[in-house]
Amino acid sequence: MNNLPRHIGIIMDGNGRWAKKRGLPRLFGHRAGAENIHNVVEACADFGIEVLTVYAFSTENWGRPKEEVDGLMQLLQETIDKEVPEMHKKGVKLIHSGDPSRLSPELQKAIEKSVELTKDNDRIILNVALNYGGRAEIVKAVREIVQEGIKPEEITEELISAHLYTAGLPDPDLIIRTAGEMRLSNFLIWQAAYAEYYSTPALWPDFDRKELEKALEAYAGRERKFGKLPSID
Ligand code: FPP
Repeated sequence: MNNLPRHIGIIMDGNGRWAKKRGLPRLFGHRAGAENIHNVVEACADFGIEVLTVYAFSTENWGRPKEEVDGLMQLLQETIDKEVPEMHKKGVKLIHSGDPSRLSPELQKAIEKSVELTKDNDRIILNVALNYGGRAEIVKAVREIVQEGIKPEEITEELISAHLYTAGLPDPDLIIRTAGEMRLSNFLIWQAAYAEYYSTPALWPDFDRKELEKALEAYAGRERKFGKLPSID
């Protein structure tokens, strides 16, 4: 396929609805959603996508009922234990975007170990946004810049980008949101300034290779202008 995005961000929505449709508790939906991640990573790698960022847990998700938050945290731990060795074998490099400090020490350690284990892999980067919020990320960047004593006139867009969790990655070209929602929900708000948006009614556990292909086709058909006039050729 021509005109592929280098970096895709996915807001994985609809796990709860997927479970509800089946008369199952919400956590079954999250489990199905977690299991779907490796399929989509593989499909992206096969297409030649360089970076996939998935929104696994936002800073706002702490506001969900304790039972659901605890279940999601446990699921994250299980998913790392189960999926990371396989992803490592398949050449996936894992990185984390977000504030680790509110996560349990076990989860923090599991993330650190996964990042370290996979750091030399180069087939695709899977960036897991976990306890991530776009505004909090910008606050973090500003604090670091102030602490470094950088002068106001030295502050540039590039400098701010270099202080985000995604430093060194290309900006996302395509943001996909499942389950028909049309919101950005504090996801990569700085980085996605010029990204194309794609919303699909498919619920996240049902978002498969075919659905990804549809999103890539829609992306390929769009002309990105970056604020300029359309090209005439
Ligand atoms: C939205 O579904 C999804 C989330 C709250 C986060 C996504 C989490 C996973 C895919 C599983 C855990 C992640 C990892 C990396 C192990 P929702 O609950 O908002 O669905 P609803 O809108 O239908 O209720």
